[in-house]
Amino acid sequence: MKTALVTGAASGLGYELTLLLAKDHYKLILVDVNPEALEQAKTNLLQDFDVEVITLVKDLAVPNVAEDIMKSIDYQPIDVLINNAGFGLFGTFAETDWKRESAMLHVHILSATHLTKLVLEGMVKRGSGKILNMSSLAAFQPGPLMSIYYASKGYMLSFSEAIANELKGTGVTVTAVCPGPTQTSFQQTVSENTTDNKIKFNMACAKSVAEYGYKAMLQGRTYAIPGRFNKFLATLPRFLPRRTATYIVSTIQKKNREE
Ligand SMILES: NC(=O)c1ccc[n+]([C@@H]2O[C@H](COP(=O)([O-])OP(=O)(O)OC[C@H]3O[C@@H](n4cnc5c(N)ncnc54)[C@H](OP(=O)(O)O)[C@@H]3O)[C@@H](O)[C@H]2O)c1
Repeated sequence: MKTALVTGAASGLGYELTLLLAKDHYKLILVDVNPEALEQAKTNLLQDFDVEVITLVKDLAVPNVAEDIMKSIDYQPIDVLINNAGFGLFGTFAETDWKRESAMLHVHILSATHLTKLVLEGMVKRGSGKILNMSSLAAFQPGPLMSIYYASKGYMLSFSEAIANELKGTGVTVTAVCPGPTQTSFQQTVSENTTDNKIKFNMACAKSVAEYGYKAMLQGRTYAIPGRFNKFLATLPRFLPRRTATYIVSTIQKKNREE
């Protein structure tokens, strides 16, 4: 039986991805910071699928948590790694909360990169393995009012593409999935100053985004952007001066969120 480890598995895109893995009979190791949601996810999975589910309540913002996760599962071989956990934060960098931003950098960059390193050695030795890194449409240009979020997703895309290239011929693939706005809890937690989600336009459903990303991972694609309009938006900055692309994002961000 093959084993999949998913971070941020308790809700949204992570949960939808675990459903797809369960359908394909993977043994599931689910990591999330939210114990109640994680337990609920496990209960739902066991109700609907004949799968083994291990849950690990871990905060991916804590230094060296990746090592801690691997220790907790006795360094068992991982066939599929999905680095999905993440969150956004809206506001000007001069005013945003550093604690939250530091946590974001740990979750999006350090823990995901470290987990990738820890599972990769075994994957390369076995000559097979799949890694899905959850990036974002935000990866393709700077993002005023969500500067750290956009930059960290840019890191995830660049890192994934680079190691995907290094891994050619090894049997291990790395896929960065770059969704546009998707209906999950993300949209509610991104802004501390509002409970009203103002993004209504171009909003995708989590199930279809997860299905698209999962298929891209199975195909071993290096990156995948769900939705035609999102593909267009990701390509646009290549034909614009960088400051124009940055200005457009700034205008959209201001329009989309209440201050
Ligand atoms: N939704 C979008 O519009 C969108 C677009 C592009 C990319 N993405 C990316 O997709 C990924 C999944 O987000 P989502 O939209 O599915 O949002 P979500 O529904 O909020 O799911 C994210 C999950 O990650 C968990 N998480 C957050 N911080 C964590 C930490 N420190 N340690 C462990 N787990 C943690 C969350 O737990 P809590 O609920 O307890 O915080 C939650 O269960 C993120 O990387 C996000 O950046 C989302």
